[in-house]
Amino acid sequence: MVLNQPGNFSSPYYPAYYPPRSHCTWTLKVPAPFQVKVVFRVFLLQDPQNRVCKDYVEVNNKMICGNRPMLVQLSGGNEMTIKFHSDTAESDRGFFATFEAYDASKPCPDEFACVIGHCIGKDLVCDGWNDCGDNSDEINCDCKEDQFQCGTGLCKSNFWKCDGVNDCGDNSDEANCQCDSEEMKCANGKCVPEEQKCNLVDECGDGTDEKDCKSGSHSVPCTTYTYKCKNDLCIQKKNPECDGTKDCADGSDEQNCSCGSRPYKHSRIVGGVDAEVGEWPWQVSLHVKGYGNTCGASVISDRWLVSAAHCFQNTAKIKYSDPTMWTAYLGLHRQLELNDHVMQKSIKQIIVNENYNPQTFNNDIALLELSSPVTFSSVIQPICLPDATHNFPVGKSIWVTGWGKLREDGPEAKVLQKAELRIIKRQICNSLLSSVVTSRMICAGFLSGGIDACQGDSGGPMSSVEKNGRVFLAGIVSWGDGCARRNKPGVYTKASKFRQWIAQHSGI
Ligand code: ARG
Repeated sequence: MVLNQPGNFSSPYYPAYYPPRSHCTWTLKVPAPFQVKVVFRVFLLQDPQNRVCKDYVEVNNKMICGNRPMLVQLSGGNEMTIKFHSDTAESDRGFFATFEAYDASKPCPDEFACVIGHCIGKDLVCDGWNDCGDNSDEINCDCKEDQFQCGTGLCKSNFWKCDGVNDCGDNSDEANCQCDSEEMKCANGKCVPEEQKCNLVDECGDGTDEKDCKSGSHSVPCTTYTYKCKNDLCIQKKNPECDGTKDCADGSDEQNCSCGSRPYKHSRIVGGVDAEVGEWPWQVSLHVKGYGNTCGASVISDRWLVSAAHCFQNTAKIKYSDPTMWTAYLGLHRQLELNDHVMQKSIKQIIVNENYNPQTFNNDIALLELSSPVTFSSVIQPICLPDATHNFPVGKSIWVTGWGKLREDGPEAKVLQKAELRIIKRQICNSLLSSVVTSRMICAGFLSGGIDACQGDSGGPMSSVEKNGRVFLAGIVSWGDGCARRNKPGVYTKASKFRQWIAQHSGI
């Protein structure tokens, strides 16, 4: 077919899956001397089989298949032919493309032309973010005052220097660092938290943090970084709870470990994707009567949930501190879809942390006792609580889940959303956010924005999948500056800091 420019076209039935045996041809023509520019904004075709594309898009005599990020194609002359072909096997979502005429001598009027062909705003050039996708907006930059130059030539914000994450790609931002008092210096110049010494993980990258360690299971003098066994002896190994190895002589590090597993898992949050059924079986939706999903929570035993204190603060209109206002839904996947697997529970009591500060959000944690115990099932399971010494290092990837808003001013999610985030160094968050990030908080997100928790996710879990697949509660959704804004990561209550408090009030 022939289309008028500018315009768009897509594979048949997009965004539904394309049918088998489709053969389509588009001829795009613009007045000479203009040329044609096509941008494939979504490109999800079957992967190649033995390097041969079975389903493909043919453009400029090239066959393209598989899943691609944004893809830009330019014509030589003023005409371009694009073909789409699918075979009889597996299908996928297909593609969505826009096209326009462009002047080859001025491909991006008033904008910056990325080497891979698309245009971006001039203000995004040399700002430390790879906006083009091929880094072409970040090379040959004169680094600004608040930036430094990587070994690769890229300019990055000073914030990322010495934060334990390889932002430059060549580690040059992590060499020659002045280490903080709670950090050790690796032989290669990198700084790693003192508490990551001798945890059997090579955080330095050169092994210096794992040299000269006593073997994990010997008892050592107790410090704030050692794990205390039931027999009051301490061991050096980091995060030994429920890791499948008996490290304490009395075996207490492997007791009470029926938590954090996902029997049903086979295989918004802003910028998240739909979770699978049973993927986060500790996730709870807390409803306020008449208002629907208001906060999240996590199952920690058959009678106790943990959530955020700020969810239970009264307003002039609603008495959120009243347990009878709330209903907890366990085993829920889609809001309002109450099938046989979903358990609906009322709340007997709400225990808000006595040190919760509504101005600073410090100690933003609460315990909820269910009116009657719940029976665990394939879609309802408790999450593991981390020991007070459990360490979730900077840079670690964790998951946040909830039915909160999909955009800062957007609607709430119907299906449970999940988003993968990274833990960010506290000092960095403190320089970026409007309020103080205390040592009882964890900061996580993406500094480029786009992925975050949002209103309605509060109280829900920040889940950390540990080496043996068991899942621990690293944090609780607490606060943020808006949602998913650039340079505004989200802030979570640090669960390990409240291990004692949880035990005191719930006996768990
Ligand atoms: N306080 C919000 C709530 O009540 C959630 C805050 C999380 N925000 C963020 N940008 N990570 O649901």
